[in-house]
Amino acid sequence: MCGIFAYLNFNVSRERRYILEVLFNGLRRLEYRGYDSAGISIDSCNCSGSDVNRQIVTPPLVFRQEGNIESLVKSVYHDVDATDLNLEESFSIHAGIAHTRWATHGEPAPRNSHPQTSDDGNEFVVVHNGVVTNYEVLKETLVRHGFTFESETDTEVIPKLAKFVFDKANEEGDPGVTFSQVVLEVMRHLEGAYALIFKSRHYPNELIACKRGSPLLLGVKELAEEASIGASFNDTKFLSSNGQPKELFLSSDANALVEHTKKVLVIEDGEVVHLKDGGVSILKFDQAKGNRGRTLSRPASVERALSILEMEVEQINKGKYEHYMQKEIHEQPESLTTTMRGRLIRGGSCKAKTVLLGGLKDHLKTIRRSRRIVFIGCGTSYNAALASRPILEELSGIPVTMEIASDLLDRQGPIYREDTAVFVSQSGETADTLNALEYALENGALCVGITNTVGSAIARNTHCGVHINAGAEIGVASTKAYTSQIVVMAMLALAIGGDLISSQERREAVIDGLFDLPSKVKEVLKLDQEMKYLAKLLMAEQSLLVFGRGYNYATALEGALKVKEVALMHSEGILAGEMKHGPLALVDESLPIFVIATRDACFSKQQSVIQQLHARKGRLIVMCTKGDAASVCVGGSCRVIEVPQAVDCLQTVINTVPLQLLAYHLTVLRGHNVDQPRNLAKSVTTQ
Ligand code: F6R
Repeated sequence: MCGIFAYLNFNVSRERRYILEVLFNGLRRLEYRGYDSAGISIDSCNCSGSDVNRQIVTPPLVFRQEGNIESLVKSVYHDVDATDLNLEESFSIHAGIAHTRWATHGEPAPRNSHPQTSDDGNEFVVVHNGVVTNYEVLKETLVRHGFTFESETDTEVIPKLAKFVFDKANEEGDPGVTFSQVVLEVMRHLEGAYALIFKSRHYPNELIACKRGSPLLLGVKELAEEASIGASFNDTKFLSSNGQPKELFLSSDANALVEHTKKVLVIEDGEVVHLKDGGVSILKFDQAKGNRGRTLSRPASVERALSILEMEVEQINKGKYEHYMQKEIHEQPESLTTTMRGRLIRGGSCKAKTVLLGGLKDHLKTIRRSRRIVFIGCGTSYNAALASRPILEELSGIPVTMEIASDLLDRQGPIYREDTAVFVSQSGETADTLNALEYALENGALCVGITNTVGSAIARNTHCGVHINAGAEIGVASTKAYTSQIVVMAMLALAIGGDLISSQERREAVIDGLFDLPSKVKEVLKLDQEMKYLAKLLMAEQSLLVFGRGYNYATALEGALKVKEVALMHSEGILAGEMKHGPLALVDESLPIFVIATRDACFSKQQSVIQQLHARKGRLIVMCTKGDAASVCVGGSCRVIEVPQAVDCLQTVINTVPLQLLAYHLTVLRGHNVDQPRNLAKSVTTQ
């Protein structure tokens, strides 16, 4: 939901064309977060050294365009030509900011795109990810003070507020007000969630970033290698302005940083990061106090170490694939292996098979004593939790309930001190899940996070947790994160189940199943062409039903979600046990119905469902275990998809893959955007 990016070069000469390309590439990496409009702000003149005053009179340039990043790129180069700006002009210091938008307030249009500005002179320009919830009140006040608004965005109040604060300080005789003082005062008035980057005509070559709720990272690239010789990453030397040439980056996520640097700082809530003269200083805004009574005063500074990104550039490229979703589906054998690496132990004959989840070990006793375990998530992450519920109930003996995060909050459903609440989220930033986490913390539950994003809000704010380590997932539709989430939750069930003798055999079977899973996923991926053929048969349909039960109820929901969100075809996952209570009325000769009937405790019940659907002349596609075609299709004709057998609780992982492939091929054949489906964003940071 919106991506923000900034690039500042210090004491190193960069041409305008280079600066533009760094900004555009940053946006391309973040495009999956929003793709309905984009914009950048750069300097109009070279204002280094003694020339700096020229920038104060020459406002920053702002370019905004509706559509995807490439539309912005085209329009910027067109404008640059039209205005005779020199692309070869060199800057030894320059600060540029950029934004890619997923509209929340106001339709996609240049006026609603970011950067939003304070005035025609672009005194303050801002890019924003998040939502300012009190923007209407702020807008009314600013209008009373003579400001006029152009956009329907919540963001426009921010640069205008900055100008108001700046002008007021100057009127009150404080011409020395610093950029960070202005931003701290702006933050004092903002409610909601935000990650912001400010650029200002009054503070040439400086940038300020701050955040609350939405993610933001700083990347540091020191260009003189000798500058870092002998300096460990645990010192804070990089924070000082040591005159060394460097490039500094700000980004909503690591994808846009990794090609430049692996040295990053995860900016925390309430921090104000000031990039000036090649140095970085961090101040802490105290939301509780609101720094009240100390307007424009300087709060405590923060010193923190840089961390090293565990990510490779290859992870964010498509490689030999056409689309990220396709790549991510096909890399599941590897992503699942990485998820399990170092966590499963299958020793020699006398060693028991066991699971080690470092992030949970100090909390396992408390979890085992819980009155219940509550899974909380949204969309695909909810489905992954649902798929894992039966094995967790079975191995832990603890009741497990399911909550869609928004629904828990709507109902203010009961959460108790004796509960363990497990928050499942690929991004770790989903607003509904985060709000539910806050609610569970307030109610005293032990909170466990299962996320794919190290340093995300859910990872940071839960008491303990497990990273799924599936690698960067860039396609908006979640695929490899889903299967890795299920594997982590199976390991969670094993860890909570502990060493009970009564379930030892079962636990060992699950562990063996986990070891075998990547090779089985490799095998099921061979169905790619078959699923493409099926997609050709189904591409003109209006609707597809998917029937599942037991472990595969979640498979049905997830398969239907994939088809609906990327192929833009109506699809519904149906609990087969509910068929006779309504859905059966839909069955006729034309509506395609996908039935999941692989071998597990529900197999015979699914056989009977198939019989009943045949009796109503249903148009069936049945997914069954290899060798079962004849026994699932008795008494009627149907198309059969045969998949390898896995242990029951992991069969859902195998069964999901052909449905992911089907959704992918349907999307390509129907001519829709695979990686950026209409109206969706990867990380939903608004409620
Ligand atoms: C669907 C999909 C969404 C997300 C949901 C929660 O493919 O990706 O349904 O699962 O928006 O997102 P996370 O897992 O980041 O909390």
